[in-house]
Amino acid sequence: MCGIVGYVGPKQASNILVDGLRRMEYRGYDSAGIAIINGNGVKIRKAAGKLSALVEKLKFDTPSGTVGVGHTRWATHGAPTTPNAHPHLDQSGRIAIIHNGIIENAGTIKKALLARGHCFKSETDTEVLAHLIGEYYVDNLEEAVAGALWDVEGAYGIAVVCSEEPNTVVAARHGSPLLVGVGDGEYFVASDASAILEHTRSVVYLDDGEMVVLKRDGYRVRNLTETHLEKPVNQIEWDLATIERGGFAHFMLKEIFEQPESLTNTLRGHLLEEEGTARVRGLNLSDEELKRFDRIVITACGTSWHAGLIGEYIIEELARIPVEVEYASEFRYRNPVLDDRCLVIAISQSGETADTLAAIREGKRRGARTVGLVNVVGSTIAREVDGGLYLRAGPEIGVASTKAFNSQVAALAMVALRMARLRNLSVLHGRELIHALQALPDQIRQILDRAPDVERLAQKYHQASNILYLGRGVNFPVALEGALKLKEISYIHAEGYPAAEMKHGPIALIDQNMPVIFVAPRDAVYSKIVSNVEEVKARKGRVIALVTEGDAEIAKLAEETFPLPKTHDLLTPILASVPLQLLSYYVAVLRGCNVDQPRNLAKSVTVE
Ligand code: AGP
Ligand code: GLU
Repeated sequence: MCGIVGYVGPKQASNILVDGLRRMEYRGYDSAGIAIINGNGVKIRKAAGKLSALVEKLKFDTPSGTVGVGHTRWATHGAPTTPNAHPHLDQSGRIAIIHNGIIENAGTIKKALLARGHCFKSETDTEVLAHLIGEYYVDNLEEAVAGALWDVEGAYGIAVVCSEEPNTVVAARHGSPLLVGVGDGEYFVASDASAILEHTRSVVYLDDGEMVVLKRDGYRVRNLTETHLEKPVNQIEWDLATIERGGFAHFMLKEIFEQPESLTNTLRGHLLEEEGTARVRGLNLSDEELKRFDRIVITACGTSWHAGLIGEYIIEELARIPVEVEYASEFRYRNPVLDDRCLVIAISQSGETADTLAAIREGKRRGARTVGLVNVVGSTIAREVDGGLYLRAGPEIGVASTKAFNSQVAALAMVALRMARLRNLSVLHGRELIHALQALPDQIRQILDRAPDVERLAQKYHQASNILYLGRGVNFPVALEGALKLKEISYIHAEGYPAAEMKHGPIALIDQNMPVIFVAPRDAVYSKIVSNVEEVKARKGRVIALVTEGDAEIAKLAEETFPLPKTHDLLTPILASVPLQLLSYYVAVLRGCNVDQPRNLAKSVTVE
């Protein structure tokens, strides 16, 4: 789930491993550990909690050695305690393993191992795999790992060391990301490029079913049967400065403020103003193919799912193609009706979300074409779909997704535009949308200039224990996203609803203590939402409204308003989500919450 880093080379491994883990801290984790091979066997140091707890332990007791592995864990089997932290040893104490993911048949294997006299020190599935590898071990770590992996089901990225082979790290992946860093006389393995970027930009992405053997004099990629595979070496273009906070107090704030640039990057090269359409070559679909689809299924999780809901409104409105938006976790276990006239669009910032990945695999299995709107280049979803658009929002490190969300909406708008222009949308309407898209980065800048106003709102409302978010039409998903953002980082209970649905239940919650945030731009449903505002007012609710600049009507009813620049109705979500992101951020800071690493959450959820 979280971070893996491994090193073989001439330098002391522990510093390199800890630095690598630090680079991956943003992913969220609950404990950390390292294993170093030296003349006296495998030395393990681990600690529950933040990396600083491990660093504290290492201060007076750093194992020396130039080969090792390090891990940050996000518990799936057993509590986040020190004994459950990785690395885990096999029965003999010679082999140490770190693991991201879940071994699904660990229970069965453990039973068999217990019957054969094994004793376990943790509750993890990972330790079971360590013992299994130990059983396979005769005198070749690589073969022992390959042998054991035949027996396991589930998802893993693993890295393994053995005191009998002091110059080797063996790593393997199946369903959990892993890459090899190729340095000058030193080699790395990591679940995330940021862990090794300080040392090398040359990487080899491993695919599912592949293993790598790293030694001082080189590396070799293989799978469970063949012992040699040729893999391309890729150059990573982004640098460390891009993933550092750039002067902001938190990554989340930095990423909110990056949106004028990230959105520009998303749109760059895609808008064909003259023809009033968008270029979406990455989808790998010809115009003929795009015209043939008579249904679209969008699948995603969390914030990306909210982007998908906005996409549903945009695509149906512009292209008149029926769209369904499915939680990936549900889609994969339903019996979805799909055929080759259905396009499945997966949306994922990380490109590693296990449920979304499984959903596209299911889509493919049933004969649908799959495309991805993904931020992380080279991620598993990006590699498995038939085509797709990269969001190009840049690395998103705050666990709460912000800039990626707006890039997802923009990407969906471009796909919608292409499909719409192949059907009935006029060139004039196409151009109008393009002009509106082009204006967004500047409009977001204007909103960001008003961040102090949002901070003031946060000061006023941060002690609320519940907040309701309401919107209609294309802004209903904005209400959902506003509420999710608030609850995930400030732990305030919040709900998003279609504004008119309020009277069917949530209205019972409204009293003088309940802030109700309306997304209420002057669009086709404006008069309807004004009535909803009145309903809340009548029950003494505290109305905060996002309104179109210059709107005086809602201002008369609301306790607070925040102006949004005028845009195309279908693009309001991109503008409206920005003050809501800021509000969550400032509220969380005022409540003393860990904004970038909220409790219980991880940046990419690579388990079911
Ligand atoms: C976003 O703020 C959330 N932490 C979460 O809902 C996230 O959007 C979801 O897990 C999907 O992630 P993905 O976009 O990387 O697939
Ligand atoms: N399933 C393993 C555990 O609970 C690995 C978790 C992770 O991916 O960090 O220890």
